[in-house]
Amino acid sequence: MTKKKILLDVDTGVDDALALILATQSRAFHILGITVTSGNVSLDQAFLNTNKVIQWLNLDKSIPILRGSEKPLRRHPLYEHRVHGNDGLGGALADQPVQLPDGGDAVDFLIQTIEEHPRELTLIMTAPLTNLARALMKKPGIAALVKETVIMGGVVQGYGNITPVAEFNMYVDPEAAKIVFHSGLPITLVGLDVTRKARLNEKHLADLDDSRFGSFVRQATAQYFAVSEKRTGVRACALHDPLAVGVALDPSLVEKRAYYVDVETNSDLCDGQTVCDFQNRWGKAPNIQVCTDVQSERFLNLFMKTLKGE
Ligand code: RIB
Ligand code: CA
Repeated sequence: MTKKKILLDVDTGVDDALALILATQSRAFHILGITVTSGNVSLDQAFLNTNKVIQWLNLDKSIPILRGSEKPLRRHPLYEHRVHGNDGLGGALADQPVQLPDGGDAVDFLIQTIEEHPRELTLIMTAPLTNLARALMKKPGIAALVKETVIMGGVVQGYGNITPVAEFNMYVDPEAAKIVFHSGLPITLVGLDVTRKARLNEKHLADLDDSRFGSFVRQATAQYFAVSEKRTGVRACALHDPLAVGVALDPSLVEKRAYYVDVETNSDLCDGQTVCDFQNRWGKAPNIQVCTDVQSERFLNLFMKTLKGE
């Protein structure tokens, strides 16, 4: 079976790292490259973390990793060290040696890779959408050449995770999200509506303890668990970014419905809110396939089996 060609765009943090593990260990993908942006942590830290995780995984094929955006299109960066720790990996892999590749630009790489693989490439976006927005501004025509774009971001029927109404990736760079949402790209939106249902718990950690990745997962997610317990009373780690990889692996894991979705960029209270027109009040054609439900047990089984090497 030919492997699905993908490109990942990350702000490696903890759940991005788990998504990288799932994507590489699934053996279902031909990973053409990984582009990096600031988000959970600074660009330098996210670039270091991404290279560190990929080198730690000791893959049989190297993967190009490209530096992208230091900050959002118009706003100041906003990091999330409270959840991902000072280093962005919860302190895991602290002693992992890492060689940083020099050269290469994420935006040019995105454009070049899309143009070299017309209608074959799946973009998996697990970060603020600054890199992709900049690529679309530079070459708008690439939107017609992408096979599918799976975006972890937004929330359409629940509360936010960085403001009362906004999800982090959308909130950090809402202008970029607006450009992407109106670009004509075929988009599947994997929002908090579904990722909050895909939660790693203590039992999963225990189940992974004897696996190759067990100690990394336990260490990397410790702060995530603690913050979750403080905020919700439940010790868990929502697998936001891994579920975006899961949807690219097996679209049947989620229920999707086409809606018109826009992003707020000019509000005192609601910047970054993903506004879904469920009743077509605005009479605009749908632009997004919105994930409305997920078979979370089936996804968690996929995640666990892949990490356990089963
Ligand atoms: O809201 C969750 C998303 O924001 C995830 O991609 C997480 O890594 C952060 O980037
Ligand atoms: Ca992320």
